[in-house]
Parts: sequence; C-alpha cells; structure tokens
Amino acid sequence: MTDLIIQQQDIIERILTLELVRVTERAAVSAARLRGRGDERAADQAAVDAMRRELNRLPIDGTIVIGEGERDEAPMLFIGERVGTKTGPKVDIAVDPLEGTTLCAKDMPGSIAVMAMAQSGALLNAPDVYMEKVAIGPGYPRGIVDLDMTPEENIRAVAQAKGVRPSDIVVCVLDRPRHEGLIAACRRAGASLRLLTDGDVAGIILTAQPQETGVDLYLGTGGAPEGVLAAGALRCVGGQMQGRLILDSEQKRERAAKMGVGDPTKKYDMRELASGDVVVAATGVTNGDLLSGVKFRKNVIETETLIYRSVTGTVRRIRAEHRELGKFRLD
Ligand code: FBP
Repeated sequence: MTDLIIQQQDIIERILTLELVRVTERAAVSAARLRGRGDERAADQAAVDAMRRELNRLPIDGTIVIGEGERDEAPMLFIGERVGTKTGPKVDIAVDPLEGTTLCAKDMPGSIAVMAMAQSGALLNAPDVYMEKVAIGPGYPRGIVDLDMTPEENIRAVAQAKGVRPSDIVVCVLDRPRHEGLIAACRRAGASLRLLTDGDVAGIILTAQPQETGVDLYLGTGGAPEGVLAAGALRCVGGQMQGRLILDSEQKRERAAKMGVGDPTKKYDMRELASGDVVVAATGVTNGDLLSGVKFRKNVIETETLIYRSVTGTVRRIRAEHRELGKFRLD
C-alpha cells in the first residue's frame, strides 16, 4: 500500500514536471507581446498575470517563497501567496515571471520566464538583496571553486581541472560598476569575459552546457532570488555553485532574519540554496545563448523551454508550436 502511495506521488510529480512548461510558456508569450516597447513594467506585469493564472490551474497546494516581493509591495505572486488548486502535493514555488525586464523592453538577448518548484522547505527563502555567486558546470572535482578564493585562483583552478590555459577560460559576469575590480582581476588572469547587461539566472545556467555556450565560470554579484533559481537548474546537471547574501545594512539583516536567515554571513552551497526534488522551467522571451525567444508567425506561436529535474538529472528542451484557434488565446 505504501509503495502504491509513493508510486502515485511520484507519478504526480512527473506529470507536474511537464506542467511547468505551460506556466513559463504562457508567461514568456505574454511578455514577448510587449518586447521592444520600452515598457519594463507592462512586460513584467503581463508575465506575472499569465504565470499566476497558469499556476492556479495546477493541481498543487503551492506557496510562493520567492516572488514579486512582500505582500504589501506586490499584489500578485507575493511571498506567502498560495497558488494552485490546493488539491495536490504541498510544494514551494520560486518565480521570476520576467527575468531581464530591461532586456525584454529593449528586445535584447537573454530575457526568460523562469520558475522552480520543490518540496516544501527545499528552497532558500532568499530576501530580495544581492548575492555573491560562483558557479561552474558539470564534470569538475568537488570544491575546486570557492567564494573565498580570488577570481584569479578560481580561473586557474577551472583551467587546471579542464586541462587548458587560463586564457582559454570564459567567465560570465554582469557588466556593472561594482564589478570593476572583478573584471580587472579576470583580465589579469588572462581569461575572456562574457559580459551581461542583465539576466544572471541565464548567465549562471550557461555554465551547465559549456560546449554549446562557451561559458566555463560564472562570477559576481546579482540578485539573491535569481541565485536560488539558477542553483536549482545547475544541481540537475551536476554543476557546482556557492552564494552568499550581501546584508550590508541593519534593515536588510532584519528582513533576512525574518525570512529565516540565521547567519547573515553564511556561504550557501548549491544544495542549501535548492535541495530535495527540484524542478526548474525556463522559456525564452527574447533570443539568447540559452534559449530562443518567442516567435510570432502567422497563426502559430513558437516557444522554446528547458526543464530541469534534479531527482533524475533530466534536462528536456521543448520546442512548442501553439495555435490560437477560435477564441483560444495563449495568454
Ligand atoms: P530584473 O529582471 O528584475 O530586471 O533583473 C535583472 C537582473 O539583471 C538579474 O538577472 C540580476 O540578478 C539583477 O538584475 C542584478 O541587479 P542589478 O541590476 O541591480 O545589478
């Protein structure tokens, strides 16, 4: 009997894995309709509305643990909001309905709709602060990179493990004034830099497929919620990541403590950012190195989605053609 229950639960989760595709697809299509219009807020709102609508159709008892903000600052997909039909498994949900709002508004590469679903308590309830991050893809010995090593040391370690010269290593970094020292250090080490204007969930995930993307190492500071989403995906492929919250004011430390962060200086390993059975889905909004953006053709809308499932390490890339027949609209 117990076996049967476990099997049934397992089947529910497997079905849900694929259901997440619909959620990110719809958010991506809604945002993509506003691509290149110069209106970040409208594009973000469209993605939020679509993602929330679709999440509420899922047979889950879901709680948003990473969302659009606190209840008083975000009317939808706020932290603590319950989503789903409330009839299925209890799960925690992390969402970024439009990651790279500016990229979408300017129709520049790399914006995605992304979410993660995990067993209750498995995702770090990260406050909306910055996080220092280091990440590499699969195939390396454990612990060769570390937040407490210098950029030069991390680059040398990756080069040595890969059997190449530091000058063959490509490091992905957000192009920000705060990274001036980091960028200079990477150049001193001889590495090549892939500088992103925005979108470090995708930036980190680029390390998961270095053969295709060319990116070996991710370094630098970006959003903490984005770090949790990226950690979930990287875990599925056997990558490595560490993150440390930047809590540089009393107000941020208090907010983090309220969200359960005990040690404000803690260095989180990937498995502490996203543990247990995690599923991550991401659909391209604009074209990028990770995913193609939404394409609007006559009567057909095309999307591309990646879904990562940590329990099996499966990565699915799903290209879908959607037809809006009769009154049916995708968003
Ligand atoms: P938005 O989608 O909210 O605009 O975030 C984009 C992003 O580039 C994230 O990918 C990244 O983690 C964060 O902003 C970096 O923050 P900042 O722009 O303040 O450097």
